[in-house]
Amino acid sequence: MKIILAISGSIAAYKSAFLTRLWVKNGHEVQILMTDSARQFITPLTLSTLSKLPVISEIISENAWNNHVELGLWADAMVVAPATATTLAKMATGIADNIVTATYLSARCPVFVAPAMDLDMWTHGSTRRNLDLLRGDGCMIIPVGHGELASGLVGNGRMAEPEDIVRCVEVFFAPKKDLLNKKILVTAGPTYEALDPVRFIGNRSSGKMGFAIAEELAECGAEVTLISGPTKLTATHPSVKTLKVESAQQMFELATAEFPTHDAAILAAAVADYRPKEVSDVKIKKKEANLTIELEKTPDIAAHLGTMKQAHQRIVGFALETNDEFSNAVSKLKRKNFDFIVLNSMRDAGAGFNSDTNKISIIFDEHTFKVFDLKNKGDVAKDIVEELIKLY
Ligand code: PMT
Repeated sequence: MKIILAISGSIAAYKSAFLTRLWVKNGHEVQILMTDSARQFITPLTLSTLSKLPVISEIISENAWNNHVELGLWADAMVVAPATATTLAKMATGIADNIVTATYLSARCPVFVAPAMDLDMWTHGSTRRNLDLLRGDGCMIIPVGHGELASGLVGNGRMAEPEDIVRCVEVFFAPKKDLLNKKILVTAGPTYEALDPVRFIGNRSSGKMGFAIAEELAECGAEVTLISGPTKLTATHPSVKTLKVESAQQMFELATAEFPTHDAAILAAAVADYRPKEVSDVKIKKKEANLTIELEKTPDIAAHLGTMKQAHQRIVGFALETNDEFSNAVSKLKRKNFDFIVLNSMRDAGAGFNSDTNKISIIFDEHTFKVFDLKNKGDVAKDIVEELIKLY
């Protein structure tokens, strides 16, 4: 990871040297920023020796501009440790008069704050308010320790120990395992309904959406059974078991056999609703006149799983619509006994079939729904899995 360690002026600044050493030992790149007053407590030379990168302590140094915007975009995480009451106040109110607070305002990465101050400063209303503002802006506040303070007073306000700061950042970035011990069935891709040995009726589904969901579920600790129609894709996560099928009937048989041993099903496949009533066992020859093919309904996998669903099981369905999107999706949600339905509309550019992106709404009932922006299918999968996790 690329970490910005921003140091402000507190006696706890000596701990930043240990923090830098721990991160560098763990293989991270550490760029140190210091306020002017931090330099009174620890020298840039000590820190640059440990981080193996020059320390930056001014917005403009020796006629060169240190680009706080670039720094803010470079980092995977920014950790302000120690964060003094003054630095907290400047961060909370957007005062960008030094390299630390200017970079903070430009940072798009998660920001962690390890406050350090004396007992009464820590409990002061002003500090409380600033911390609330920072929390509201998405900063993670690393709890202070209790003990003897530089003033000789005993109480809260000591900066967290370097090992604890390292752990907080690691826990934040560690993959979430909210679905550990859950078995989840996913359907993906199109189905092909044979007309004869060489022809079929199919659709444009690539399987990307369903495969992204399967990978994301596995990332969250689930054991995943992925039943996929014909696609070029391969699931790479070791916790994803892929079962390949071709037709709606084959998908139906596997899904109904597998569902009872699973905790949930996410049905992203674009299953054919109709198939040829007769399948010719030889190639159908071209005729002079038009060819009429009679179609019959395929089994509705989702609706059938809906009737099998037990109290501990959840089903998430999809609706791909071209018109009357919301009402069609709500009607499928109810008819198929889904816990929620993911609506994607062919009217939204970049949504639905084949593309790497999708734009979805998640609908719980006609009054409760969430509309999401256009995102790549990996991030869409994250949103869907997050909602499933909430159901548990
Ligand atoms: O594969 P991609 O290229 O990434 O595209 C993703 C997608 C557009 C295919 C996907 O996001 C999607 O919308 N999948 C469902 C498409 C669809 O067939 O929707 P539907 O409205 O016809 O079906 C409603 C639900 O019932 C779906 O969960 C579907 O899987 C299920 N169904 C439908 C018919 C059937 N016979 N059996 C089913 O289980």
